[in-house]
Amino acid sequence: MELFKKKYWTLMLLPLVVLAFTSVLSLVEAYSRTDFPPDFVFGSGTSAYQVEGAADEDGRTPSIWDVFAHAGHSGQATGDVACDQYHKYKEDVKLMKDIGLEAYRFSISWSRLLPSGRGPVNPKGLQYYNNLIDELITHGIEPHVTLHHFDLPQALQDEYGGWLSQESVRDFTDYADTCFKEFGDRVTQWTTITEANVFSLGGYDQGITPPGRCSPPFGLNCTKGNSSIEPYIAVHNLLLAHASATNLYKKQYKDKQNGAVGISVYTYGTVPLTNSVEDKQAAARLNDFLIGWIMHPLVFGDYPETMKTIVGSRLPAFTADESEQVKGAFDFFGVINYMAIYVKDNSSSQTQNLHDFTTDMAVIMILYGNTSFTSEYANTPWSLQQVLLYIKETYDNPPIYIAENGLHKTPQIHKTPQTSLEDTTRVQYLSSHIEAVLQSLRKGSNVKGYFQWSLLDLFELFRGYEMTYGLYYVDYKDPYLTRYPKLSAHWYSSFLMGTLHHQSHASSSSAL
Ligand SMILES: *[C@@H]1O[C@H](CO)[C@@H](O)[C@H](O)[C@H]1NC(C)=O
Ligand SMILES: *[C@@H]1O[C@H](CO)[C@@H](O)[C@H](O)[C@H]1NC(C)=O
Ligand SMILES: *[C@@H]1O[C@H](CO)[C@@H](O)[C@H](O)[C@H]1NC(C)=O
Ligand SMILES: *[C@@H]1O[C@H](CO)[C@@H](O)[C@H](O)[C@H]1NC(C)=O
Repeated sequence: MELFKKKYWTLMLLPLVVLAFTSVLSLVEAYSRTDFPPDFVFGSGTSAYQVEGAADEDGRTPSIWDVFAHAGHSGQATGDVACDQYHKYKEDVKLMKDIGLEAYRFSISWSRLLPSGRGPVNPKGLQYYNNLIDELITHGIEPHVTLHHFDLPQALQDEYGGWLSQESVRDFTDYADTCFKEFGDRVTQWTTITEANVFSLGGYDQGITPPGRCSPPFGLNCTKGNSSIEPYIAVHNLLLAHASATNLYKKQYKDKQNGAVGISVYTYGTVPLTNSVEDKQAAARLNDFLIGWIMHPLVFGDYPETMKTIVGSRLPAFTADESEQVKGAFDFFGVINYMAIYVKDNSSSQTQNLHDFTTDMAVIMILYGNTSFTSEYANTPWSLQQVLLYIKETYDNPPIYIAENGLHKTPQIHKTPQTSLEDTTRVQYLSSHIEAVLQSLRKGSNVKGYFQWSLLDLFELFRGYEMTYGLYYVDYKDPYLTRYPKLSAHWYSSFLMGTLHHQSHASSSSAL
C-alpha cells in the first residue's frame, strides 16, 4: 500500500530484475498440508468491485470506488467489467475446485444488494450472492464473506458524507443484518471491514484511495477533505459500525448460525533502521498507529495511549457506552501482510503546525530489501511471523486469519500469458510465507487460516490491471476473459492436495 510520500519511492526504485524462469520447478517443501491442524483453512481471495464487473447491471448502483476509478485515479482503468465474475462465477468456482481450495474469500457489493445504501433489497443482487454461495457449498468450498471492501454505496457518500457521519453506523448495521438474515444459514465466516486503517489513511489523509479526500499540504491533488481529523473520524465510525454489526450477530444470529465475525487490519513487518532508542520507539509507535488503531479499542475498549497523547483532541473519544460496545466485539482478526519496512524516527514532524496521521505517527518508512511498491516485493516471510507473534503478545492471542498475503507482478512480467504463467518467484513467496505461518502456529499463534491474494488477476486498488497477484492469469485482450492457471496455481494445488514432495517424507510421496 502506498503509505509513502511519492518522493521517497524514487529513492527506492531500482531496475527490474529480469527473471530467468526455469521450466521445471522443484516441488520440494519442508512441510505439508497435514502439518497444519485439520480445521486450519486454506483459501484465496478477491473482492466484489475487483472481480465482478456488471457494474451497472441488474440494479447495482455505483460505490465510492466506481466513482473514484471513473474520475481517472487508476489510470484509465475501472472495474466496470473486471473479471466478469458476475457472469462467470460457475467457471470460477470450478477453477477453485480444480486447485483444491478449501475456502473462498469474497466480498458483497453493498450497492448491488441495497442500491440506495439502505431500504429495499435488490432481488437480482440477492439472487447473485445466493447463487455464488450455493455454488461454493456444492463444491465443498467454504464461503468467507467480507461486507465492506473499499466500496461504500456512493448514495450514502452523497447523502451524509459516508463514513464521516455516524449515520453510517446505523446503515452498515442494517446492511449486515440483511446479509446475516439472507446468507447466514450457509455463511458462518464474516469480516465486516477490510483494512479499516488503510481505507481511512488512503481515503481521508492521502486522498489516494476512495473516497479520495485530503487537505493540503497532505495528500495528492486535494480538493476536499481535512487530513488532520477525517482519518480519525472515519476509523472511529468504522469501529462503531463493526461493533454494532458484531453485537447484533451475537445477539440475534450466533445461537442459530454458529458463525464468527471479525475485522481485518493491514500490517507491516518492521525493522528499526538503526539500533538507536529513537528508531526502536518509532517502530513501536508505527505498530500502535497502524495495528493498535484498530485492534486496541476492540481488545481493550480504547485507543492506544500513544495515539491519545500525540493526536490529542483530534482523536475522537469513546464514550463509556461506546467503549463497552467495542470492547470484545470480535471473534477473530483478519491480518493482511505483504512486506516489511525499515522504520526511522521523524518525531520532529510532531512539532509542525499542521498535522495529519503521518506527522502524528512521525516515522519514515523505507521498503525492506531493495524493492518498491511498483516492483516485486522482497520475500520476507519473517515479516508475517513477526506480526503474528506481536499480535499474540500484545492483544491476548486472538484468533487470526491471514486475510491477504501474496506477491504482485509488474506490467513487464505479466504482459503475456507466457511470461505471466511461469511465476516461480510467486511460488517461492507463497511457499515461504505458508511455512512462516506454520512456524508461528508452533510458537503459539492462534492462527486459523491463510488466504492467498488473489485467485485471479484482477482490478487492483493501485494501478488497475497493471499489477497482478493472481493464481490465474486473465487474458484481458480476449473477449471471453479466459483464465489460465499459473505455476503458482499448480503449486498451491499440489500443496493442498498433498502431492508435493516434502523432505521428511520424500520417499513415501511419489505422485510427482
Ligand atoms: C494530480 O494532478 C496532476 C496534474 O494535474 C495529474 O497529472 C495527476 O494524475 C493527478 N493525480 C491524481 C492521483 O489524481
Ligand atoms: C481541519 O479541522 C481542524 C479541526 O476542526 C481545523 O482546525 C482545521 O482548520 C481544518 N483544516 C482544514 C484544511 O479544513
Ligand atoms: C520528517 O518530518 C518533517 C516534518 O513533517 C517533514 O518535512 C520531512 O519531510 C520528514 N522527513 C522525511 C524524510 O520524511
Ligand atoms: C540494494 O542494491 C544495491 C545495488 O545493487 C546494493 O548496493 C545494496 O547493498 C542493496 N541494499 C540492500 C538493503 O539490499
